[in-house]
Amino acid sequence: MNAPLLAIRGLRASYGKIEALKGVDLDIAAGEIVTLIGANGAGKSTLMMTIFGKPRARAGRIVYDGRDITSVPTHHIARMRIAQSPEGRRIFPRMSVAENLQMGADATDGTPAERAASLDKVVTLFPRLKERMTQRGGTLSGGEQQMLAIGRALMSRPRLLMLDEPSLGLAPLIAKQIFDAIRVLNRQDGLTVLIVEQNANHALRLAHRGYVMVNGLITLSGTGAELLKRPEIRAAYLEGGRQTDAPAAG
Ligand SMILES: Nc1ncnc2c1ncn2[C@@H]1O[C@H](COP(=O)(O)OP(=O)(O)OP(=O)(O)O)[C@@H](O)[C@H]1O
Ligand SMILES: [Mg+2]
Repeated sequence: MNAPLLAIRGLRASYGKIEALKGVDLDIAAGEIVTLIGANGAGKSTLMMTIFGKPRARAGRIVYDGRDITSVPTHHIARMRIAQSPEGRRIFPRMSVAENLQMGADATDGTPAERAASLDKVVTLFPRLKERMTQRGGTLSGGEQQMLAIGRALMSRPRLLMLDEPSLGLAPLIAKQIFDAIRVLNRQDGLTVLIVEQNANHALRLAHRGYVMVNGLITLSGTGAELLKRPEIRAAYLEGGRQTDAPAAG
């Protein structure tokens, strides 16, 4: 691999006495789709949030585009063209679709022309949003809210897009639309994507490579195709779906 766009080494993070990340190593090359799978409570969302500086890393390093960002404040990280769609979507329910998208654009300083181009891309990818520009975010369906959350992240013109469980709670057809959109962004724009998924089957088919997290540690990694064939992956994450409790929304 060339120098990765994101390189994580020995990353540790805690909530009080609970150590959620216990020394994580993970690489994402530019132009790659990488998926992170694992059971409830494994630390997947924490990894994504630690890249954003909340919680702060207790030890280890996060290097993005050759720069150590381990101690960079959260509000600066968005300016470095890293965007995330967090677990539970977290759109602004009282704001319109257009205003939600505007918030995404405000995360970086794009020119009016760049903003217009981003908006064009978002509505081409998700035509449903175009018909609903004046509608309040909170009144969108679950699938539409997910589209809005991804659209808002895209408005900041990311180089690295991180998505936390984008298919959670969606009907299979809508989930497929979301996965297809991610594939298009990757193929057409070379967008680099980190996707946390409970839908391991879909995610491993979509991703170039995957990592499996158990109790705050990476236990397995490989290409999507390799991981799909592993018996322990099939048993834990594919056959019969997730074996753990239903994930809490939000
Ligand atoms: N704000 C918090 N305060 C205290 N503990 C937390 C907090 N957030 C997460 N944890 C704990 O950290 C561990 C990892 O949680 P995390 O949300 O990263 O898991 P996850 O892999 O994303 O799980 P899921 O698949 O259910 O979303 C869990 O034990 C969880 O209880
Ligand atoms: Mg999570």
